[in-house]
Amino acid sequence: LKRIGVLTSGGDSPGMNACIRAVVKAGIGKGINVFGIEDGYKGMIEGRIRQLTYMDVNNIIHLGGTILGTARSEAFRTLEGREQAVANLKKHEIEALILIGGDGTYAGGMALTKEFDIPIIGLPGTIDNDIHGTDFTIGYDTCLNTVVEAVDKIRDTASSHHRVFFVEVMGRASGYIALNSAIASGAESVLIPETLTEIQLLAKEIKNQNKGIRSSIIIVAEGDEEGGAKEIMEKVKPYLEGYELRYSVLGHIQRGGSPSAFDRILATRMGVKAVDLLIEGKKSLMIGQIGRDLVCRNILEGTTGNVSTDDSGIELLKSLLTKGNF
Ligand code: F6P
Repeated sequence: LKRIGVLTSGGDSPGMNACIRAVVKAGIGKGINVFGIEDGYKGMIEGRIRQLTYMDVNNIIHLGGTILGTARSEAFRTLEGREQAVANLKKHEIEALILIGGDGTYAGGMALTKEFDIPIIGLPGTIDNDIHGTDFTIGYDTCLNTVVEAVDKIRDTASSHHRVFFVEVMGRASGYIALNSAIASGAESVLIPETLTEIQLLAKEIKNQNKGIRSSIIIVAEGDEEGGAKEIMEKVKPYLEGYELRYSVLGHIQRGGSPSAFDRILATRMGVKAVDLLIEGKKSLMIGQIGRDLVCRNILEGTTGNVSTDDSGIELLKSLLTKGNF
C-alpha cells in the first residue's frame, strides 16, 4: 500500500481535524502518501485532491470544523458521478480510502468498493452519536459540553425571571445529545424521539417542579415527534396559565469549537487504527469504541442508531423528577 485518500463528509464535527492529523502522521510514518480530498465526495468528483504533509496537519489538533471541508453531494449518487470520482482517484494512484462521517458517508464508500473494488475504512464523525457499533462518535463529547455550557447560562436567566425554558438541541432522529445534556445540565425534563412525549403529562411535571423552584429547563431533541422547542412550548401553553414560557434553539454552535480532550483522543486512536487496518489489507470496516476498546465491524452495520428505550439515562432522569415535595 503506497497511497491512500482521506475525506470528511456530512455534517462537520469537532475532532475531525484531530482524526485527519492522525491519519496523515500515522500514514507518513509507515511510508504511505496520504491525499486529502476536499469537501467529501463533491471534491472527489471535481478532482480537488492534494497530498498532505506533516506541515499541513501541524497545529490543527485543537481546531473545530475540518480543514478538508465537507459537503453533501447529489452527483455522487449517480454512477456517472462515481465514475468521475474514481477517475480522479486513479489519477493520483489512490488505492484505498479512509472516510470520516456517518452512515451516508459509508453508503457512498461502499458503492466505490462494490463497483470499483476500492477498499474503504469508515470512522464515525458526527455530533449526533447516532451510529451503531460505537459508544461514541467523534465530536459528540465536545457537543455535549457546548450544550451544557449554553444551558448553564440559560438557567441563570431562567431562574432570575422564574421562567420555564424549552431548549432545542440537535441530534436528528436520535436523542443522545438531548438525554445526556439534560443529565449533565440538571434539566428538569427532557423530550427525545425515542420515548413518547405526552403534552399534558409534561405540563403536570412543570407545575410540580415550579411549586418549589419556579423555573425549569426542558431539553427538547430536534427530532421529537411533538415538534421542536417552539412547537412544544405552544402546545403546553394552554395548560400552563400564569407561567412565563420561553424557548431557545441552540443551533449550529453545537457543531463548532475546539474539540474536547476526549474527542481528540478518540479521533487520534481511530485515525491510527484505520491506517493499520488498510496496511493489513482489511476493507469495508467501521471502527468504533466500545467501553475502552477499539472495535471493528462490517461497515454496513454502521447504520443510524437511537437511544435504547432501556437506556439507564432515561430511568436516571425519571428518578430525579420533582414530585412536588420540598
Ligand atoms: O448530523 C449533524 C447535524 O448537526 C444534525 O444534528 C442536524 O440535524 C443537522 O446536522 C443540521 O444540518 P445542516 O448543517 O445541514 O443544517
